[in-house]
Amino acid sequence: MKKLFTLMMAILAITPAIAAKVPMPSDAPKSYESECASCHMAYPPGLLGEKSWQNVISGLNKHFGTDASLDAKDQKEISYWLQKNAATKQKYNVVAPDNRITKTPWFIREHDEIKADVWKRAGIKSAANCGACHTTAAEGIFSEKSISIPAK
Ligand code: HEC
Ligand code: HEC
Repeated sequence: MKKLFTLMMAILAITPAIAAKVPMPSDAPKSYESECASCHMAYPPGLLGEKSWQNVISGLNKHFGTDASLDAKDQKEISYWLQKNAATKQKYNVVAPDNRITKTPWFIREHDEIKADVWKRAGIKSAANCGACHTTAAEGIFSEKSISIPAK
């Protein structure tokens, strides 16, 4: 029994922090596409925990050097939907430093083989530009099969 428990814990420990699939829920409000995908891709809500989405929404007037404020109706709709579909597994539901997916421990771990200069290539520019390498990022599919890193 004890052996079995140890084995189970070992399996849990090596399970990747996040599945290769973080699908975009089919009930995304139109406002999410129009208001949150004009400067970057529409990030699937499962990439951040509830608290982090709350933080993103409450700081939209000072959003990574831009003003991404919403009117009250869109804000309520988007905020509710993001939090409803946020990452749930407690272990991954970390509060993201600087509200960035790209600063979560799981993101850093999954991308630790990518060298610093690669992120700066003209075809990538930023780690937040998921779709530069994950060709199916918009659908929330991040598996190895659909990765193509731009050569420059
Ligand atoms: C006016 C442009 C603009 C709009 C509109 C906008 N964003 Fe952003 N967002 C940015 C910029 C710029 C960054 C930083 C990107 C980078 O570092 O490459 C960013 C980054 C982010 C990140 C962090 C990405 C990372 O590094 O992990 C999240 C999450 C995010 N935005 C969510 C949203 C949500 C939700 C909305 C809609 C309510 C939204 N954004 C609307 C410009 C915008
Ligand atoms: C420079 C290219 C690049 C960018 C940009 C990038 N990734 Fe990745 N990503 C990779 C590579 C390479 C791997 C590792 C694949 C492997 O070893 O299986 C990976 C792995 C992952 C995995 C784990 C996949 C699995 O099979 O378990 C997830 C999830 C992921 N990335 C999400 C993202 C998200 C979300 C963004 C944007 C916020 C992003 N990535 C931006 C290249 C990139």
